Amino acid sequence: MKLHIDVLTLFPELFPGPLAASITGRAMSRGLLEIDPVNLRDFSHDERGTVDDKPYGGGPGMLMKVEPLFEATDFLKARSPGAKVVLTTPRGRLFSQKLARELVGEERLIVVCGHYEGVDQRYIDSRVDYEVSIGDYVLTNGNLPAMVMIDAIARLLPGALGCEESSEDESHTGWLLEYPQYTRPEEYEGLKVPEILLSGDHGKIAAWRRQEAEWLTMRRRPELYARHRAWPREIKDVNKD
Ligand code: ADE
Repeated sequence: MKLHIDVLTLFPELFPGPLAASITGRAMSRGLLEIDPVNLRDFSHDERGTVDDKPYGGGPGMLMKVEPLFEATDFLKARSPGAKVVLTTPRGRLFSQKLARELVGEERLIVVCGHYEGVDQRYIDSRVDYEVSIGDYVLTNGNLPAMVMIDAIARLLPGALGCEESSEDESHTGWLLEYPQYTRPEEYEGLKVPEILLSGDHGKIAAWRRQEAEWLTMRRRPELYARHRAWPREIKDVNKD
């Protein structure tokens, strides 16, 4: 399984950027992940590389113009027939583990980094498959959101993680947050590792971890805990979002 991602952006020099490091970088060098930044300005209709314009009806800011977006997208779609188009925008559907799992099933994606005050609605209506937000806060543009999404998707590619880093385990814990973890030494500045983790009793350790994960989730993310309690295990495992 291999995933090719065209990133349509006003800042192609930002890619692969941090994605070249660590697990995503390894996925790239193993040929599992290809990131191809494409400069939207290459599709502008004038010498100055204009890709934005004022909104009809007035209002603050500029919008991304239709012509460069349509032409760039159609060019990329001709190269990658069937590729899904994902636009990063604060008004999109919230990105989630479930959406990452859905998108990792694609062979090719076109990720469009939103910019300015937004995008001409005609482009969204006729070319975009997914409008995605990475959270309820507004960033200056969609380049970092694109990187966040690509990271979350890429680590799910079979072979991207080593056995020790497996993402399998995550899907078995439903919506619980992770339990506290410790590594050597046993004591540091008088702070001790919980006794039970040194006991070697795997059953007790598993029960302790589960209890800690439940308490933490209950306190920190009560809405997540409610969902965890409400859903049957099979659905929880497969459809975690
Ligand atoms: N562009 C600006 N803010 C964003 C967000 N939170 N998610 C996706 N794209 C964005």
